[in-house]
Amino acid sequence: MALAHTRIFGQAADISPLPSLLYKAYIETYGCQMNFSDSELVAGILHAEGYGFTPDAEEADLILINTCAIREHAEEKIWQRLKYFQSLKRKRPHLVIGVIGCMAERLKKKLLEEAPVVDIVAGPDSYRHLPHLIRQVESGAKAIHVLLSREETYADIAPLRLSPHRVSAYISIMRGCNNMCSFCIVPFTRGRERSRPWETIVEEARTLSEQGYREITLLGQNVDSYQDKDVRFADLLARVAAAAPHSWIRFATSHPKDMLDEVLETIASYPNLTPYIHLPIQSGSDAVLQRMNRGYTADWYLHRIETIRRYLPQAVVSTDIIVGFCGETEADFEATLSLMRAARFDAVYHFMYSERPGTLAARRYPDDIPPEVKQERLERVIATAQELSLQSNRTQIGTDQPVLLEKPARRNPEDMAGRTFSGRSVVVRKAASLYKPGDILSVHIQEASSATLIGYASDRFSSSA
Ligand code: SAH
Ligand code: SF4
Ligand code: F3S
Repeated sequence: MALAHTRIFGQAADISPLPSLLYKAYIETYGCQMNFSDSELVAGILHAEGYGFTPDAEEADLILINTCAIREHAEEKIWQRLKYFQSLKRKRPHLVIGVIGCMAERLKKKLLEEAPVVDIVAGPDSYRHLPHLIRQVESGAKAIHVLLSREETYADIAPLRLSPHRVSAYISIMRGCNNMCSFCIVPFTRGRERSRPWETIVEEARTLSEQGYREITLLGQNVDSYQDKDVRFADLLARVAAAAPHSWIRFATSHPKDMLDEVLETIASYPNLTPYIHLPIQSGSDAVLQRMNRGYTADWYLHRIETIRRYLPQAVVSTDIIVGFCGETEADFEATLSLMRAARFDAVYHFMYSERPGTLAARRYPDDIPPEVKQERLERVIATAQELSLQSNRTQIGTDQPVLLEKPARRNPEDMAGRTFSGRSVVVRKAASLYKPGDILSVHIQEASSATLIGYASDRFSSSA
């Protein structure tokens, strides 16, 4: 799942009319798309309590920081932010500060002990209790709720959509994870896997589509094990595709050991299910995969890739790779590089192994790869990934691709940034004065770098208006 750091702000259009603007909340989000989606749930819960939202931490009455614990570095960033929030609290003593999300769940009351600036600690299954926790703080006590649940899916809570343009939306279809990948903290921070009732997902997709959202991403740590009654992931995709015919449907993350051909078949048979598959491999060495407890071999993985490309010849396949996992030899690492080439990944997210306390790997295997070796391996992964992305993007030159426009391009505001149906990033020249976010265009691709395609609008497919 792609990681991003996002600050989110209530959109005036979404949050009015407000019963009261007395209390203003500021929410800052770190980590994966799931966390981003959770922040929208939290905003929905606060909105129902009468909170307004501000993009400016300095004028907030309540600051919530939705945290990630996936690597040590993710947590270091949060400690830094807490120092800044402490400086705000000196100026505004009534300010309430809450740490929520995965780091809150991992550290529990240790967070309150080590950071006295923190008033509230709430884990991913505790968001319903936030109004109560805030009241507890207002009456002078610290507040903590970190119980994990086997049932909570927040199915009945209306998220407050916080993206600046009404173009893309997330729907969490399940929570938690039952896989025990030995390096991973997620099962400890998000608990047991549970699927949200399919009817509520389909309804939410239908509503988003009717509201004009052009891209809907279904989220779960392991979407292939989605199951509610007799509805499995492929059925869910089909139902969502039919309920939201004007939206492009994406999903993440797929697990190589669980992804069924049925899912690929379903994607191939609906025009709005996008052929973008994020399929984390982690390592190309069977010995390392076994220590990681991933449940597949490199060969099995490559067969899955062949199957994907057979059903979906236009598929964009991305992956996650961890370098420097416990005991990774140079030969293990070279197996990862060769697997990258054999799989012809279109995009790769890469990470240096970071030991997480309490995980199987931390208990069983020493974190024995020196930082400089991890760094050097990471650089080699990056170089190979760029070469593969460039090759992949170059195959698009000269073609016309459907593109969903997202926002003005960063480099030149006359251009617009968007994504192809299969998920490649595109810059559309001179589009800003003619089109708006949410428009779907046919774009003629002229150039390609490893990061993006560049082209011009050759035809308008349809517009969001
Ligand atoms: N559920 C997804 C990914 C969740 S975390 C899956 O099954 O793959 C996103 C990515 O972070 C993982 O795919 C992995 O590559 C990376 N990651 C997880 N734990 C890590 C750790 N301890 N050190 C470094 N990278 C890690
Ligand atoms: Fe972590 Fe593995 Fe679950 Fe992904 S599938 S969240 S890597 S335990
Ligand atoms: Fe996501 Fe980070 Fe938690 S990657 S699930 S926010 S540990």
